[in-house]
Amino acid sequence: MRVLGIETSCDETAVALYVGGQGLAAQCIYTQTDLHEVWGGVVPELASRDHVQRLAPMILKVLADAGLPLARRPGAAPAGAAAPVDGVAYTAGPGLVGALLVGAGVARSLAYALGVPAVGVHHLEGHLLAPQLEAGAPAFPYLALLASGGHTMLVDVQAVGRYVVLGETLDDAAGEAFDKTAQLLGLGYPGGARLARLAESGRAGVYEFPRPMLDRPGLAFSFSGLKTAALLAIRGRTLDAQARADVARGFEEAIVATLVAKTLRALEAVPRAVVVVAGGVGANARLRAHLAGAAAARGVRVVYPRAELCTDNAAMIAYAGHARLAAGERAGLPVLARARWPLEELAPPAADPATTHRTTP
Ligand code: KG4
Ligand code: ZN
Repeated sequence: MRVLGIETSCDETAVALYVGGQGLAAQCIYTQTDLHEVWGGVVPELASRDHVQRLAPMILKVLADAGLPLARRPGAAPAGAAAPVDGVAYTAGPGLVGALLVGAGVARSLAYALGVPAVGVHHLEGHLLAPQLEAGAPAFPYLALLASGGHTMLVDVQAVGRYVVLGETLDDAAGEAFDKTAQLLGLGYPGGARLARLAESGRAGVYEFPRPMLDRPGLAFSFSGLKTAALLAIRGRTLDAQARADVARGFEEAIVATLVAKTLRALEAVPRAVVVVAGGVGANARLRAHLAGAAAARGVRVVYPRAELCTDNAAMIAYAGHARLAAGERAGLPVLARARWPLEELAPPAADPATTHRTTP
């Protein structure tokens, strides 16, 4: 089954083609960072408008790259039989609702025109299943640490569609905290990677920031207090280059220590042989080094999907959509986009007569 995946939940426009039994056939990702940088964060309306402009040419490119040009001449062949793909999967939430609606509208229209089924995918299910696209994919169950600009959570991934959220952030996401502190340090947006680079020349122990929530039991995260501590250390002071690097180092160490400690705590509660790290913060070298050391000491393997599968992409949406379409799941008649969508509402893939809807015109 060839499934086209479409991702437009935030500021990446992404399209991919996944072929069952073969793997990822083609993918294309456009990131809108330059569009939003001047505003210091993602502007939802600008994001939606840019998705509108980029999406159709990107779909054509991915299909052409996979040797499946999209061409339907009137009367050429019956719908469905001649379609270049067997299904279309799109991110239906959570995310920016206007941005999601662009992908949902295009995906559902394309599926209708081609006479193939469509399915809406949960964005976080995509992230949690992304390692399945790699060689040596981990077997279920595994623990996932998902740390991005929008989410920070620990999830027990038991099977496709069966996820137990063990803990999540009560306020800011880890990437958001990185970005806001980077902004205070004048590093621009998104500044997580730049802050990490600055921290390399910082000295350990000069700035000691709080390790949020480590003193309390449980697996919840909270980064807003840490962000405020960084604000107090930076705002209204004249910091030379070394002091700015020292702040970056102290801040990064506090976040990394928290993420590592909570991940180890989760492994104690739910012993698993593999930890998957997903989301943009997973690119952080200090996090990788500390987690690798701590996990190895416990005989646990840490898996990082390659960078373009860790951050927002459509390959993960095509993969998750394939799992659901192959089981007979179909989007219902209404075109849905959900800004909020609790992960635990998901169930394993199944054909549900209540929502199954033939899209053949
Ligand atoms: O998963 P992602 O690409 O996009 C979403 O948020 O959906 O994650 C982006 C986040 C940003 O907040 C960015 O600053 C952060 O990941 N990030 C990093 C690093 N690289 C990216 N944070 C810390 N260290 C890094 N090296
Ligand atoms: Zn994401």
